Amino acid sequence: MKKIALAGTALVAAAALALTGCSGQRGGGDTGTDTGSEETTGFEAGSTIGIALPDKTSENWVLAGKLFEEGLADAGFKADVQYAPASNTVAEQQNQIQTMVQNGAKVIVIGAKDGKQLATQVQAAQDAGAKVIAYDRLIENTEAVDYYVAFDNFKVGQLQGQALLDGLAERAGHDAPYNIELFSGSPDDANSAVFFDGAMEVLQPKIDDGTLNVVSGQTKIAQTATEGWLAENAQNRMDTLLTGSYSGDTVIDGVLSPNDTLARAIITSVQQAGKPVPVVTGQDSEVESVKSIMEGIQYSTINKDTTLLVEQTIKMVGQLQKGEEVDVNDTEQYDNGAKVVPAYLLDPIIVTKANAAEAYANVPSLLEIVESYK
Ligand code: BGC
Repeated sequence: MKKIALAGTALVAAAALALTGCSGQRGGGDTGTDTGSEETTGFEAGSTIGIALPDKTSENWVLAGKLFEEGLADAGFKADVQYAPASNTVAEQQNQIQTMVQNGAKVIVIGAKDGKQLATQVQAAQDAGAKVIAYDRLIENTEAVDYYVAFDNFKVGQLQGQALLDGLAERAGHDAPYNIELFSGSPDDANSAVFFDGAMEVLQPKIDDGTLNVVSGQTKIAQTATEGWLAENAQNRMDTLLTGSYSGDTVIDGVLSPNDTLARAIITSVQQAGKPVPVVTGQDSEVESVKSIMEGIQYSTINKDTTLLVEQTIKMVGQLQKGEEVDVNDTEQYDNGAKVVPAYLLDPIIVTKANAAEAYANVPSLLEIVESYK
């Protein structure tokens, strides 16, 4: 995981990797089909599958629980879906996983609240003969995680960075330099650094050449973090940035936001300060953000179709049950600090007002919203 967190200079790192022949660097790897899968012995059909999800910090987590219930039942499994409550999430999630192990779950799928605090629980799972799949968020510093399934997080960040540049060119109403601020996700989520690194791979050269001006000077991930992925924390930080760095007529042209919940909080803050809404990125295709994009307020989001991610996970569970090889398409990028976790990565799609109909062609509920704006 250390390597992931340090992957800010992914290209340089990838080059170093090629030279040393060392594996495990995230970023820049290809995601073509790979045969790095593993034989297992299988287990009884109809077994219990544990699904441990974090608190509901975005709509994707709410939807995932429902889809796992339905999809696992359809595939003939017993689903034990648990969410960690918003308070005391880490301890509760640890307990939930421990209980799943004790109850004999054969596979435990985990959307980690804090990927660094589950080593004991996943080791217990492995010792009991269960398989562990890290879902959406990597579990760190343990060998006892068998697979990782997620959208390509680094690519999400790259798409966000590029959308910010495109949006500025389209909407800022003036030439560069553009005044921007940067936000990242919760530090206990392994994805946060990967999203940020992906975005900074695109944005850093533009900061260096003066196209972008981070007026607050806060460009380090620790300075940009949003504890708990909570909207109020992003809104408070934006309020502080506006007061400190955008007094008088100083305009903010753009904000890198790692997801939709935070994007809307950032937009609210700017609106309350009486300033024009900047170009703001997002992620997750939350209903309120899709509406905002269609209304020309939020600039972009990412389509990471939860249905596809849950389907892929259930497919992996089915392969484990039958003792078949498990599909993975990446065996290089996700070093969790103890091992390189074989991963199946899905492709995220950037969404702006211009391509929304096309981007949601296979997501009827969102397509309906987009079409209602025509
Ligand atoms: C997920 C994002 C989500 C965030 C907050 C991340 O781990 O990948 O899709 O916006 O958590 O819930």
